[in-house]
Amino acid sequence: MENVEKGLPPGPSKRPVRLLSQFLRDPLQTFTNISKEYGDISYFKLGRQDVYMLNNPDYIERVLIYDHKNFKKGKRLEIAKRFLGEGLVTSEGEKHDSQKKIIHPFFLPKKISSFGPIMTKYALDMCNNWQDGSVIDIHKEMSKVTLSIICKSMMDYDMQSDESEEFGRAFTISKNYSKRLQHPLGHILDSIPILPKVVESRKAAKTLDSIVYKLMSTRRQEISSQQDELSSPSSSDKPKNTRDDLLTGLLLLGNLDRENNKTNKPNNSKGGDDAGDNQVMSDQQIRDHVITMLIAGHETTANALTWTYYLLAQHPEVEQKVFDEIDSVLKNNSSSRVKTGNGAIKFGEYRLPTTKDISQFKYIEKVFRESMRLFPPVWTIGRMVEEDYQVDKYVVPKGSAIFMSQYTMHRSPRYYENPEQFIPERWTDDFKRHLPRFSYFPFGGGLRGCIGEPFAWQEGILLIASISSYWKMTLRPNQKIKMDPGITLNPKKGIKMQLHARNPIPGNRL
Ligand code: HEM
Repeated sequence: MENVEKGLPPGPSKRPVRLLSQFLRDPLQTFTNISKEYGDISYFKLGRQDVYMLNNPDYIERVLIYDHKNFKKGKRLEIAKRFLGEGLVTSEGEKHDSQKKIIHPFFLPKKISSFGPIMTKYALDMCNNWQDGSVIDIHKEMSKVTLSIICKSMMDYDMQSDESEEFGRAFTISKNYSKRLQHPLGHILDSIPILPKVVESRKAAKTLDSIVYKLMSTRRQEISSQQDELSSPSSSDKPKNTRDDLLTGLLLLGNLDRENNKTNKPNNSKGGDDAGDNQVMSDQQIRDHVITMLIAGHETTANALTWTYYLLAQHPEVEQKVFDEIDSVLKNNSSSRVKTGNGAIKFGEYRLPTTKDISQFKYIEKVFRESMRLFPPVWTIGRMVEEDYQVDKYVVPKGSAIFMSQYTMHRSPRYYENPEQFIPERWTDDFKRHLPRFSYFPFGGGLRGCIGEPFAWQEGILLIASISSYWKMTLRPNQKIKMDPGITLNPKKGIKMQLHARNPIPGNRL
């Protein structure tokens, strides 16, 4: 280690318990104060944990990219495993790396592109259900639509099907309970099996698993009958399976593993679930991967879209530019007449956006980018240090925690002029080129960076273009809107918006 200085980086000298309670009350403000006061690297104690906060893009780049092997995600993952199992988010080391290789092909550009029609279909269904003048909670609406999209894309499961209400309820209960477990008292409460929340969460976990396993079993039967058909002499060579989702893909991989094991290996595994022995991908693993994607891929995008509409409602000049861009890309030139509910005739229908339009939505992209700057859905990334690690002239000892906060970095005046203001125009190509890589990192980076980033960009842009073709939203007065930084950055009590129809919707119920 070079030029090492004995001693600790600067940091708040408050007693650790006081700082912990301040942090639990308002983590965003606590991080903001610390980063403003102490700069690039600071040290403090949260309870008994030594914490180093890195507030310099170069340090963050080293931790996430070049030296990532020296860090683990740490304790919070153990808690998350209760719900997520051992999927991509919660696994570490070699297990994580080999899983990422398996999942990666499902996130290649062509695959992501094929989810475009799913995204716009569910957006349109939602728009169709809204009524002119009514008030919605935009966070609830965005959560519902993004859950439908991710379920359809990852499992080919339709959230408008019969049992989907049960699925949605069980999913939400399990997700909320998993968050509750992150609370310092969560574990203790969890060990009291008669508490209503505990009873409810166990029941929900069973329901959720039973629906996912049933889906897997039906899908497996479907695959095997298609394979039988294919191998029969009368069949044409074309495979009939048109499902393109992650669940089917992983089941097919599981089948391949089983075939290979039958031919290549002795049958000595203790695998022991109903998918057979020796397989690389067990049913439990497939379940864990799929549930992980549903969780990681819906709340984050729901929050990003919620905050985007919150910001648009407060910046009519930005909103107008979004409308103008949509008009120029999606408005049909033919002056088609559409009758609205009150008998008025409006001119000019909108076609639905497709993935081919995305490159034309340059302003919407800036809006979405700027919204994730001010309200990064993942507001901080934490790592545990495996071996003593040098940052600047300090040694961060093994066992310490490192925090790197998107929220504080994205609002740093060092990189952003008027950092608290919503200015999508700042995102010129030139500005992006000169910005240090980790002064803007809503999706993290490196080997543990977000695999769903292209999915999220596509979904964000297509949903804004679809929704804002038809609806304008205004904030209901007298609301106190507060950020609730849990695992993701939620609005504390939702956000109430009033709907105003811009244009009639195809098959409209306006
Ligand atoms: C605006 C939307 C999203 C944001 C802001 C976001 C943010 C992030 C961040 C910051 C990480 C890294 C966490 C860390 O390093 O500790 C991450 C990881 C991950 N994200 Fe996303 N995400 C979004 C959407 C999605 C979507 C749509 C999916 C899936 C369809 C997804 C799946 C994942 C997975 C599986 C990981 C773990 C990757 C790994 O550890 O290898 N995310 N995300």
